[in-house]
Amino acid sequence: ATAKLWGGRFTAKAAEWVDEFGASIHFDQKMASEDLEGSIAHAKMLGKQAIISEKESAEIVAGLQALQKELENGQLVFDVKNEDIHMNMEALLTEKIGAVAGKLHTARSRNDQVATDFHLWVKHRLPDVLTVLTELQEELLILASKHSGTIMSGYTHLQHAQPITYGHYLLAYFEMFQRDYERFEFNQKHTDILPLGAAALAGTTFPIDREFVAEQLDFGSIYHNSLDAVSDRDFALEFLSNASILMMHLSRMAEELILWSTYEFNYVELSDDFSTGSSIMPQKKNADFAELVRGKTGRTYGSLMALLTTMKSLPLAYNKDMQEDKEQVFDVTDTVIASVKIFTGILNGLKVHEKRMLASTQDDFSNATELADYLATKGVPFRQAHAIVGQLVLAGITTHTPLQEMALADLKSAAPQIEDDIYNVLKSETAVNRRTSIGGTAVENVKKEIVRNQAILEAR
Ligand code: ARG
Repeated sequence: ATAKLWGGRFTAKAAEWVDEFGASIHFDQKMASEDLEGSIAHAKMLGKQAIISEKESAEIVAGLQALQKELENGQLVFDVKNEDIHMNMEALLTEKIGAVAGKLHTARSRNDQVATDFHLWVKHRLPDVLTVLTELQEELLILASKHSGTIMSGYTHLQHAQPITYGHYLLAYFEMFQRDYERFEFNQKHTDILPLGAAALAGTTFPIDREFVAEQLDFGSIYHNSLDAVSDRDFALEFLSNASILMMHLSRMAEELILWSTYEFNYVELSDDFSTGSSIMPQKKNADFAELVRGKTGRTYGSLMALLTTMKSLPLAYNKDMQEDKEQVFDVTDTVIASVKIFTGILNGLKVHEKRMLASTQDDFSNATELADYLATKGVPFRQAHAIVGQLVLAGITTHTPLQEMALADLKSAAPQIEDDIYNVLKSETAVNRRTSIGGTAVENVKKEIVRNQAILEAR
């Protein structure tokens, strides 16, 4: 036998570097607290069910609680020789309370243990993600309230399309983050399931009480199939997928912030505390943090792809491949929480150049649709109206004359239906405020949407 916890049937011991390759303690120690929590619940259950004596159960629980204290005080030292967090904890417990520690692993396997720890870990972090998302959404509403009437150019293909308000733009992101919130909320359902009790893969002969353990650990439900319990990582994949979609949203907004703070756009200016300078060019103010969030989106997708690929083709039930699941989720949790917080900070300090935004809609022919619609309401078939306005735009581009600056006589010679009221119709403000269809950019719509969204946040 070798000195390993599982060394009974082994005669030769592996080289240190081989052990190190198999070990996970350098990262799964992040789940140390969850591991102790799970073990405490399991030990209590073993005692209650008379699988071990109440006295033994109490000794084990006391030992685990002592380890919990030492963990909090940063006093626990883990050893790579003990491979992972589960065997490290058992070794520490044995040091503390002696041979009785060996009874803890009755009716349990590291397979259902690691699954339980990992579920608990994600379950404990999901509320943090929801909290930072709520804070970001609150910040968006504050900014949108300030800018419900701030007119800017709306884009398609990154070409000026039609005027919108900046508030309306911000609320588009509110909607995306709302869906992200709901996805992470749903993520809880598939995370809140207890695997413990599945043992290695087939369940156990001991008269365990899984419902009791679920209650102790505050799990909403338990896995109903032992094979599924130890091999399911859907909750982690859902987390990575939700995180990827959220990062995609942040990255799109990051791109706009970066673009809009260029000299050419100059729509917004990032606050000093969310920008950086250049080591050589004294005039520079770079949107490093928005860029970094955009960059970390790739890293997040990478984690999703990594775990999807790890899980692909894995036969049931547990395989060591699955040890690769945790680092991805740990990394993405840090990335996503930090990125959302960075964005809340960026939006909080953002300077909005309202005049520049409005000016961008003045000589760009983004009111061409208004004129076409105007003619259509006067009975001109829309196709024909489109062609007439297209001709006027072409003329206007050549003479540098926006539609609203063309003489009524010139407009009339293009289409006799045009009257003096056209000049009001052609104003960006009118274009915006006439878009009162549900979901449209009209200022009154934006204001109503802010109120509706505030109610959503208040109900949380
Ligand atoms: N460190 C392992 C992991 O993270 C724990 C489970 C090991 N189980 C086993 N049968 N080797 O997946």
